[in-house]
Amino acid sequence: MDEALKNHTTLRVGGMPRQFFYPHNVFELQKTLKEARDYYVLGGGSNILAEDTYLSKPVLKLSSMPIYLDIYKEEQDVVYVKATANVTKQGLLQFCMKKGLTGGEFLAGIPGNLGGGWAMNAGTQLGDFASLTEELIVLNSQAETKVYSKEDLSFDYRKLTLKEGELIYSGILKFKKANQEDIHNKVKEIIQRRNAMQPVTQANCGCIFKNPFVDGKRESAGKLIEMAGLKKMQIGAARVSEKHANFIVNLGGATSRNIFDLISHVKEAVKKQFSVTLEEEVQIWT
Ligand code: EPU
Repeated sequence: MDEALKNHTTLRVGGMPRQFFYPHNVFELQKTLKEARDYYVLGGGSNILAEDTYLSKPVLKLSSMPIYLDIYKEEQDVVYVKATANVTKQGLLQFCMKKGLTGGEFLAGIPGNLGGGWAMNAGTQLGDFASLTEELIVLNSQAETKVYSKEDLSFDYRKLTLKEGELIYSGILKFKKANQEDIHNKVKEIIQRRNAMQPVTQANCGCIFKNPFVDGKRESAGKLIEMAGLKKMQIGAARVSEKHANFIVNLGGATSRNIFDLISHVKEAVKKQFSVTLEEEVQIWT
């Protein structure tokens, strides 16, 4: 398999990692953690902008590890679900829809797996991973298991702070029983809105920037970028999406340089026009 990251990321950009680890079970994962020490974890590759050169760290991909997703316990109308980090967000959502569980509808159409969702506290205006999570099980660099209950987890806006070297292995998420048809309708509505508003058919890595604080509240970075007149701005084969300006799309063959240059241009223009500093949400791998 070609291990260049452009073959493992939804933006289709990125060079070779120093080393690629694909553990197949917990034993191999523990061995890898001890060996690799500092590494990048690759989940669904949907929120990553990697440089085209050789990367400075090894990459660890959990897709070959056993997958687990099932009900953990039920307490009246509250249902706890246990899942490994390599379950996809859409896999979890399908599970919830089949079992009639509400709370995860915001996941509709969000790419990637649960590991990335936890690590980034992925979400929308309708919810985020912090609001669903009861417990996380992590492995540290000595490959020891640690359990964090929700009170011990420092989730923030699009961020989860863990100790250095900790890897998210699995977690427990909390849902409520609800009418299955209502859940289906809500998911359908979210998907329709997303298809209308976001460049879902073009290579992208989700929103590039976090929504900045403007006058004490979060403002859509996409709206600011559009207001700065940057929709459709293009460098090489990288373009600011005409559908949603917080997305950069790869029209085919874009280099990481094209994308970094476009990001810098957008940041400068938004700073100049609105005195707002945009901060990258996308994870940059060098
Ligand atoms: N808007 C514009 N122009 C644009 C984009 C948006 O005028 O180019 C306006 C919209 O018309 C709307 C408002 O801005 O009135 C908000 O737009 P939207 O609902 O798309 O929300 P957002 O704040 O721009 C957030 C998340 C998205 C998520 C959407 C949908 C962040 C940084 N972005 O975007 O998440 O899909 O809500 O709920 O939190 C991601 O995390 O990768 C991501 C794309």
